[in-house]
Formats: sequence, C-alpha cells, structure tokens
Amino acid sequence: MPIGKDLQYAASLLKQGEVVAIPTETVYGLAGNAFNKITVARIFEIKNRPAFNPLIVHIKHIEDLNLVAQNIDDRLLLLIQKFSPGPLTILVEKKSIVPDIVTAGSSRVAVRIPAHPMTLSLLNLLDFPLAAPSANPFQYISPVTAQQVEEQLGDKIPYILDGGKCSVGLESTIVGIEGNDVVVYRLGGLPVEDIKNIVGNVVIKTKLDNQNVETPGQLKKHYAPKKPLFLGNSKELLHQYADKKMAWITFGKVENASENVQIFNLSEKGDIYEAASNLFEALYFIDQSDVEIIIADTFPEEGLGRAINDRLKRAAVQ
Ligand code: TXA
Ligand code: MG
Repeated sequence: MPIGKDLQYAASLLKQGEVVAIPTETVYGLAGNAFNKITVARIFEIKNRPAFNPLIVHIKHIEDLNLVAQNIDDRLLLLIQKFSPGPLTILVEKKSIVPDIVTAGSSRVAVRIPAHPMTLSLLNLLDFPLAAPSANPFQYISPVTAQQVEEQLGDKIPYILDGGKCSVGLESTIVGIEGNDVVVYRLGGLPVEDIKNIVGNVVIKTKLDNQNVETPGQLKKHYAPKKPLFLGNSKELLHQYADKKMAWITFGKVENASENVQIFNLSEKGDIYEAASNLFEALYFIDQSDVEIIIADTFPEEGLGRAINDRLKRAAVQ
C-alpha cells in the first residue's frame, strides 16, 4: 500500500512532479511542487476542487518567504516570526514565480511553515516549496491520519507520508491585511487571542453566508460530514431527536444518555486543545458508522472553541 515513512521516496516523487500526501500539525495536505503548474493542476483534479479556490504554499523556514512573497506587512512578519512553525497562514503579495493557478489569479499568496518534523525534513530535501490543500475531496472532512487520506484518495496518489495523527487537528488560522486592519479570514489552530496579543485589534471576516467570499474556505458549507448534523443545546436536541440513532459530540463532564445515543466526548477533562485534535476524527468515524444523525454542543466561544464552532456550523449546513 502507498503509506509509509520514506522521506527519500516522497522527495523523489515530488521532484518528478508527482502529488504526495504529507502530514502537518493541522491536517494532512495533498502536496506538490508549488512552482510546477501541471502538478498544481493535478492537485485540483485529484481533490475535485474548483479552480477559483487557491492553495497554501508551505515553506521550511522564514528565510524562504522572500522566494514567494514581497512587501510583507510588519505585523504579518511579526506573527510569522512568533508563531511559525505552527498553525498560522499569512496572505501576502506574491512574486511572479508563483504560478497564477496556485493563487487562483489573486495577487496574494497564502504561505505557512508547518510544524511537523517529517514534513520539515521533507522540505529540506527539496529546492521548491509545496502547494498543498487539505487532503480531502472538496467540501468533505479534512483528514487527520494517513489512513483517512488513504480511504479518501488512496487510489489517486502514489504515496502517503505517514506522520501519525495530527496534533492540532484543525486547519491553520489565515491572516492578512486590509488597509490598516489585520484580518482573520479563517479561524483555525492558532487562537485569535494569541494573534491579538501580538498585533492588538483584529477584524474577523469568516463569513457564514455565501456573500462576497474572499477566501473560499469561507464557503458556508464546508468540512461537512454526509450525515445531518444539528448544533446547539444538546439537552434539547437529545429530546427532539429521541427516536433517532444518534451520535452526540460533546466535551467535558456529561451525563449518560439513552441507548440510542453514542457519545463522542472530545475531551473528558475539558481541554479545548484536546477537543480540537479529536473533532475531525470523530466526525469521520461517525460518518462511517450507522448512526442516522449527529448532534453537537456549541463550544465556549473563546480560544480554539471559536474555530471548533466555526467547523461545526459549516458542517451543520444542509
Ligand atoms: O492547515 C492548513 O492550512 C492545511 C494544511 C495542509 O496546511 N491546509 C489547508 O488548505 O487547509 P486548504 O486548501 O484546505 O484551505 C486553504 C484556504 C482556503 O480556504 C483558500 O481559499 C485559502 O486558504 N487561500 C489560499 N490561498 C489564498 C489566497 N491567495 N487568497 C485568499 N485565500 C487563500
Ligand atoms: Mg480544506
């Protein structure tokens, strides 16, 4: 099977223009040479992703930023210095070496330094950065293990680099500049509070309607399981859907529910980081099971709880 830990093999495939799945601390990525237009086109094809949805470019070190970007705002530089490698993506003015297909024609390119030792070693074997979206079919749940990548895309790619379960489990937080504002376009693995601590006020623009979508990660339906998901107050939802076979996604101390209900407690000790790291795995597992519906508690709207709620809201869109 095409799963393994062979960095040299992964590097040789990538040098030949192939697409390889890679682990990151956030979710698995579907990676290819960011400077090779044909490879990038293959990524879109494998993912079944519309061409208007641009890809994040992964670099190994902050010094490589100037390979792909220019005129970077000081606040974004500060953020990437402070939080990289880590779950942060910055949107910056691209250099012409970055093919338009990577940015879907935009003059801005999304760049990040992933905090996964295997992928950093892989990048060290390459003399080009890696364009990589999450390694899921368009609009489905992002994979957090090599096995999930294999189940979703295994027949379409030659190799999956196995780096274990992703430690963060939510996609990176995407940040850019508009006028004088620092703008968060996607809530993710880096809490907004951490960003505010460095740059002061930020504007959050993670739309939940489909109006004026600036980054397609803002599409309302996204990250979605196939089963219907209802988000809110679990007490009410448990009662309302009592006749259904349910999965209940929750957090912290909970009371037992009826036999119909399978409980997925993302963190019994109430640790929001642990909960985030278990969310997509739970959704994925539930989607493969025979439950009829999924209900989920709204998480506290702070820190990573915000990003978890964002994903659950998008998953709940029918
Ligand atoms: O954690 C992550 O960011 C993962 C790992 C693999 O690095 N990647 C990821 O990629 O989540 P993807 O393609 O699933 O989501 C990238 C998001 C999309 O919403 C896309 O629209 C936005 O980033 N994006 C990428 N380039 C952009 C650009 N030039 N301008 C605006 N938005 C951009
Ligand atoms: Mg994605």
